[in-house]
Amino acid sequence: MTCAPQRLDDTTKQALFTAARTANTFAPTPVTDAELTQIWELARWAPTSANSQPLRVLYVRPGAGRDRLVAHMHEGNRAKTAAAPAVAVLAADTQFHEHIPAVLPFRPQLREVFAADDRLRAETAAFNATLQAAYFILAVRAEGLAAGPMGGFDAAALDADFFPDGRLHAILVVNIGHPGPDAWLPRLPRLAHDAVVRWA
Ligand SMILES: Cc1cc2nc3c(=O)[nH]c(=O)nc-3n(C[C@H](O)[C@H](O)[C@H](O)COP(=O)(O)O)c2cc1C
Repeated sequence: MTCAPQRLDDTTKQALFTAARTANTFAPTPVTDAELTQIWELARWAPTSANSQPLRVLYVRPGAGRDRLVAHMHEGNRAKTAAAPAVAVLAADTQFHEHIPAVLPFRPQLREVFAADDRLRAETAAFNATLQAAYFILAVRAEGLAAGPMGGFDAAALDADFFPDGRLHAILVVNIGHPGPDAWLPRLPRLAHDAVVRWA
C-alpha cells in the first residue's frame, strides 16, 4: 500500500507529538497481546539504512520474567517497570546482516561486507536500532497507550540474563500501559527553534 504524503489533523499530531508525554506511573488496566502485536505492525515500517532492521523486541509480562527485569533496572526506575502491565526490551541484533539477502534482495553481497567489518556492523546496528526505537515509541502512542522509555539499567546484566548467546544488546526498556495517578512529571522545556534549526 502506498499513499501520497498527507498532513495529519491536529488531534493526531497532539497524540503522537505535542501532547504525548512520558508516563511514570501505570494503571492496572491490562494491555492485550493484540495491542502489543499491533505496536510492532506499525513500528516495523521504520526506515533503516540498507533496510537493515537490526531492532529486536522482547515483550515482558508481569511474573518471574519481569521480576528479573526489574532487578536489572536502576534503583529509581524499578517501581515504574514493576507497575507497567507490559514492558518492551528493545535490543540491537549484532548479527542483523544474516537477513540482508532477504531484506535487500537487490544487493545480497552486502551481507559479506557487514560480516567482514565488526565496527561497521556494530555502528549500523546501534544507529538503526535507535532509530527504530523512536518509531516504536510513536507506535505505542498511535495504539492509544503511554510509553515510558528508560535507559537507566545494567545493560551487561540484562543482556547476560535475557540474551545469553551474546547476539543481542539491550538499548532501551519501554514501559507500556495506561497512565496511572500522577503519571506526568512537569513538562521540561524544549530547545528554542533558533537553538536547533539553521538554514543554508
Ligand atoms: C533514551 C531515553 C532514556 C530515558 N531514560 C530514563 C530513565 O532511565 N528513567 C526515567 O525515569 N526516565 C527516562 N527517560 C524519560 C525522559 O526523561 C523523558 O522522556 C523526557 O524527560 C521527556 O518527557 P515528556 O515526554 O513527558 O516530555 C528516558 C527517555 C529516553 C528517550
